[in-house]
Amino acid sequence: MSNELDAKWGQPSLMHDPNILANFNARPTDILITTAPKAGTTWMQQILYQLKTGGETEFQLIDDVVPWLEIQRANKSVSEVLESFESLPNPRIFKTHCTYEQTPGADTVNIILTSRDPRDACISFYHHMMNMTDQACEKIGISKPRSFDEYFVQWMEFGAWYRNVASWWPHINDTNVLWLKYEDMKKDLEPALNQIVEFLQWQLPESNKSKVLEYCSFQWMKKHSLKFTHHDENGVPYFKADTFIRKGMVGDHKTHLSSTQEKEILDRAVNDLPGDCLDFLRLSY
Ligand code: PPS
Repeated sequence: MSNELDAKWGQPSLMHDPNILANFNARPTDILITTAPKAGTTWMQQILYQLKTGGETEFQLIDDVVPWLEIQRANKSVSEVLESFESLPNPRIFKTHCTYEQTPGADTVNIILTSRDPRDACISFYHHMMNMTDQACEKIGISKPRSFDEYFVQWMEFGAWYRNVASWWPHINDTNVLWLKYEDMKKDLEPALNQIVEFLQWQLPESNKSKVLEYCSFQWMKKHSLKFTHHDENGVPYFKADTFIRKGMVGDHKTHLSSTQEKEILDRAVNDLPGDCLDFLRLSY
């Protein structure tokens, strides 16, 4: 394992271990779900797992079967994490919030990127923070924002949505990249399933389709939300019951953001992203 890390792997944090990224052995059969936070990551974990298994629902946690690539594990060394990844059968599926530059094998593995309107992603992350248990906040070392306005400033400063989309946009036409939009999937999931199956050269037999659609529906995932909630290494949920799979709506920001805040989000998108990207994301105004 290399000790000298290239700065391109990013700064270490509890959610981002550059050591894992720098030493990960990417395989051409790997599938990486790449998203900005709250853009439909967990939904895509479930979609890919259901497509791969043809409707297996006995798993305890989605993170067990579709691991988060770069998160630090409290009870495992980096070598142990990498060994556990090595022992997974092909095709391995991981989730990541990394930018293109930070993603190991970004030009060789199969990338499925899900993007979401930044206004809704912003609101979703607010609830993510507010629905964390006090125990989890203490353990992770974060304090909840005292108001939505305070949160909003922090979300803009953090800027993960902008970094993620800006870094991946130049690769939208790469043959190893499939870019799907949360809003399209909400409107009708079936075309997205067909796109994924074609992209990965998998099969989705007609006899499995209704099962996969049911298990990937918001209602089914909400009903089984413990399977999709992040847990600590002792199996204690980080979030209050039934809050991680929350509302799953398009346009939820309308009830939360002030017009000034909405404008701030969109202005920065216009400033940071090229026009064709804004058109694609339907953010032009
Ligand atoms: S994370 O923490 O970054 O991994 O979160 P992420 O999974 O990306 O995003 C969570 C939001 O996705 C919604 N979700 C769904 N929407 C529609 N259909 C399905 N099946 C589904 N599953 C999860 C989840 O409710 C979060 O959005 P909000 O707006 O908070 O409800």
